[in-house]
Amino acid sequence: MSKSSIQNAVGMVWKCSSVNEVLKEAKVTVKKEKQRGIMKLCVFLLLLSLFCECLDANLGIKMKLTQKGLHYGMQVGLRLLKERLQGNTFEDISGEDTSGITGLDYTISKIRINNVEFPNASVSAIPGTGIQLLVNEASVDCSADWRVRSWVSSRNSGNMTVSISGVSITVVVSPLRDEEGRLMLSLESCHGKVNDVAIELDETAGYVHRIFANFLKRPLRNTLSSSLCPNIGFGIQQINEQMRQHQVRTQIDAFAVVDYSLVNAPAIFTTSINLDLKGTVYPVKMDVEPAFKPAPFTLPGTTDFMLYIGVSEYFFQSASLAYFTSGAFNVSTAEVADRYAKPLPVMMNPIATATPVISLKNGSFKLEFAGSIEVLAVLPNSTTQSMFTLNVTAGTNASVTIFEEKLMAALCLDSFQLSLAHSSVGLFKVSLLENFISYVLQNGIIPAANAKLKEGFSLPLSDMILVKPVVTVFQGYLQISTDVAYKPSDNWRDLWRQLETLSNSEEFFVI
Ligand SMILES: *[C@@H]1O[C@H](CO)[C@@H](O)[C@H](O)[C@H]1NC(C)=O
Ligand SMILES: *[C@@H]1O[C@H](CO)[C@@H](O)[C@H](O)[C@H]1NC(C)=O
Ligand SMILES: *[C@@H]1O[C@H](CO)[C@@H](O)[C@H](O)[C@H]1NC(C)=O
Ligand SMILES: *[C@@H]1O[C@H](CO)[C@@H](O)[C@H](O)[C@H]1NC(C)=O
Ligand SMILES: *[C@@H]1O[C@H](CO)[C@@H](O)[C@H](O)[C@H]1NC(C)=O
Ligand SMILES: *[C@@H]1O[C@H](CO)[C@@H](O)[C@H](O)[C@H]1NC(C)=O
Ligand SMILES: *[C@@H]1O[C@H](CO)[C@@H](O)[C@H](O)[C@H]1NC(C)=O
Repeated sequence: MSKSSIQNAVGMVWKCSSVNEVLKEAKVTVKKEKQRGIMKLCVFLLLLSLFCECLDANLGIKMKLTQKGLHYGMQVGLRLLKERLQGNTFEDISGEDTSGITGLDYTISKIRINNVEFPNASVSAIPGTGIQLLVNEASVDCSADWRVRSWVSSRNSGNMTVSISGVSITVVVSPLRDEEGRLMLSLESCHGKVNDVAIELDETAGYVHRIFANFLKRPLRNTLSSSLCPNIGFGIQQINEQMRQHQVRTQIDAFAVVDYSLVNAPAIFTTSINLDLKGTVYPVKMDVEPAFKPAPFTLPGTTDFMLYIGVSEYFFQSASLAYFTSGAFNVSTAEVADRYAKPLPVMMNPIATATPVISLKNGSFKLEFAGSIEVLAVLPNSTTQSMFTLNVTAGTNASVTIFEEKLMAALCLDSFQLSLAHSSVGLFKVSLLENFISYVLQNGIIPAANAKLKEGFSLPLSDMILVKPVVTVFQGYLQISTDVAYKPSDNWRDLWRQLETLSNSEEFFVI
């Protein structure tokens, strides 16, 4: 077969698959795919919730949660708390009026919370300290059945409403890093107060009962006031328990493992809370740190979005190395062959010879591949014979988008260079093969790489949907600027259930 016939056999098509096309296909496959539980940055919005990330630890990834994000977290947290409390029933309370005024033994049962309001709540970051949540004027309306044993009245049961008002809580929580690099919360300070408790007995209750009800106010108010902070402390413990179950390292697929652990304690500034994550991808079964080090980068000071995620070139390069080392690029030969539009008179054996190099510059995300393509002739008796091997370096531009909380890239061939590495058919000008190799890259290798890439890279997020994320590439890192919406995972539903069970006891009468 002559060189020119190889060239003629192949039509040349220069086309880049548009990101949209890739994503259209991706929608189908990704939806089916089970969401992988990669380490979790959770929006921890529980109890009197603080929007804090439970990150399960050099600086491959930075995250910045802004005041807008904190505020959203607080709103969601209070809404969840309200939902949890409303309709909840509590254990009975019984006791004895020991003052001797009424001499009553009493039981209050079927305590149900009918309504909870948080009309005035705010959250703010206290630089260097933590996150402060202020709740003012919160109110809780409960209804309950009462029963007394008394010598003074013939009537001994009925129902009542309890209105708790003027509840104020000031909580400071600081986010910490545990020894494994997970985010933990520590309750720095807490003050809780209940201003007023009003008890209304049903109309048919007698005079003595009303005195008793009146008498019950003060102890009830004191009990409620003093139970607020212990309950918050308990809630934080529960959140920490939950966070402890998060893996800081998670296997992505058959080839790679990602480490999203915190490398140092969260830094708290007036306008944001910043987290530094290790952000390194390792080959499966090989725990060797990449020889290159992350270059320092700083996220811009903007705070228009709730959350900013900076993913460094180091992170992508560690991923490239991990996939190369694990042989992920070796498996693509068959896929490449599958993608040819028509059978070729030759066979090809492409191999990646070095780790693809990734570079991020203002507005451009590039991947450079180095490999070789062995071209084999298919003989009439169906055996193959190696003709020549070309060294190829191919530069691609990547368009990066976010789809379903995953980072996806689509490659587009920008340029390539060829050199003849070996030949058994004599020396020839490799430029004669440019069209042919272009076709192979455009229709075989790049589409195969894109098919792999559209599986996407899970971001260190959980329980969150990204709302209108914007991806921008800067010198050395990629930034995702996004608002978020809370979407509880099953883990959180379990936690709520636990909290509910425990709160169905006297100690956890309120909150
Ligand atoms: C909320 O409480 C703060 C502090 O008590 C007060 O200054 C502010 O006016 C209150 N806001 C509303 C809307 O009630
Ligand atoms: C409370 O008791 C009154 C009188 O006994 C009765 O009419 C009313 O339906 C009861 N309310 C509830 C919520 O049980
Ligand atoms: C990938 O293929 C190359 C060339 O065939 C080989 O040298 C290398 O060991 C393979 N890597 C893995 C991890 O299989
Ligand atoms: C990238 O853009 C930023 C801001 O737009 C600018 O300050 C910086 O100098 C640019 N860097 C390069 C390498 O062009
Ligand atoms: C196939 O054909 C080639 C050249 O015609 C010959 O050298 C080779 O031995 C044949 N192989 C087999 C398995 O017949
Ligand atoms: C790839 O990006 C560079 C700039 O970064 C641009 O000049 C070039 O036209 C792009 N190539 C394609 C095929 O989009
Ligand atoms: C082709 O690539 C191989 C492996 O990367 C290298 O050893 C060789 O020197 C290259 N040959 C040419 C002509 O570039």
